[in-house]
Amino acid sequence: MPLDFPLFPEAASTMAGQVDAIYLFLVALSAFFSILIAGAVVYCAVRYRRRSDDEIGSNLHGSLLLEIVWSAIPLAIVLVLFFWGAKVFFAQSRPPADAIEYTAIGKQWMWKFQHPDGQREINTLHVPKGQPIVIKAISQDVIHSLYFPAFRVKKDVIPGRYTTVWFEATKTGSFHLFCAEFCGAEHSLMGGQVVVLEPEDYERWLAGGAATAQAPEEAGRQLFDQLACGTCHGEGDGGRGPSLHDIYGEEVRLVDGRTVTIDDQYLRESILTPAEKIVDGYSPLMPTYQGQISEENVFKLITYIKSLSPSPEDAAEANPAENAASAADEATEETL
Ligand code: CUA
Repeated sequence: MPLDFPLFPEAASTMAGQVDAIYLFLVALSAFFSILIAGAVVYCAVRYRRRSDDEIGSNLHGSLLLEIVWSAIPLAIVLVLFFWGAKVFFAQSRPPADAIEYTAIGKQWMWKFQHPDGQREINTLHVPKGQPIVIKAISQDVIHSLYFPAFRVKKDVIPGRYTTVWFEATKTGSFHLFCAEFCGAEHSLMGGQVVVLEPEDYERWLAGGAATAQAPEEAGRQLFDQLACGTCHGEGDGGRGPSLHDIYGEEVRLVDGRTVTIDDQYLRESILTPAEKIVDGYSPLMPTYQGQISEENVFKLITYIKSLSPSPEDAAEANPAENAASAADEATEETL
């Protein structure tokens, strides 16, 4: 729904029309009932005013029909709002399968973004138009909130937990991004721009910075070697720690009998506080890395560990050309 009202933020994503439609419906609904009720109050005050001192109103007795009508109509209205709102909420919460993953780290008082190819930006984010983008975000200190008004999406960015926000931009241009959660003295300055480019321009922009960008898997692999994670987490199952190959997305039993799914959140916990959830059959030998690895480096390690579990889903997520290229890379690595 295109809206050119000056007080209204520009609509520049696939989600914007849906959110605006609900918003406008709510405004229209509120206006309708406000006018109806205020009008009825004024009308009745005039029409049924007391005209002389001895005028006494008659007693009122209940009306079943009226009771049913004024219960059923609001119920129907709120149910419509509930299901409509839930539909849009679910659409906002679930990134499409072909969304490309970016990362964001919130800290007092800046946003640090990283592109899938490893390129980094602070307070500015370049994205291609017409491509669903999911941002996996975490905070390094207090609660922040990543807000893109023109895309009508906002998600809290929390310390210790990954949250995601996704959008697909429908217009090129420069749009605001904000921190929408009061996070300290310079909260109001914790914002910037999201720059939407045509896909070709985005590729060109990426190529411009490619010299300094390192692929997160590669950076993760280096860090993995540097921290000597491989000493315990070897390829086979005989190591002191579980093998990290082909584990992502799988369920695993813990020593205490619980079962967990191996996802980003579990990998992060296992790096920072490994003793919390020990895989069945292993001992709590791993040292904690809490406070020793930055969130960026945790992202890198997770990306590397994920790359050890190529799944059909990954194949669907990545674009075919990239996939063929990375498959070729893997093939050469294996032959080396
Ligand atoms: Cu970060 Cu407000």
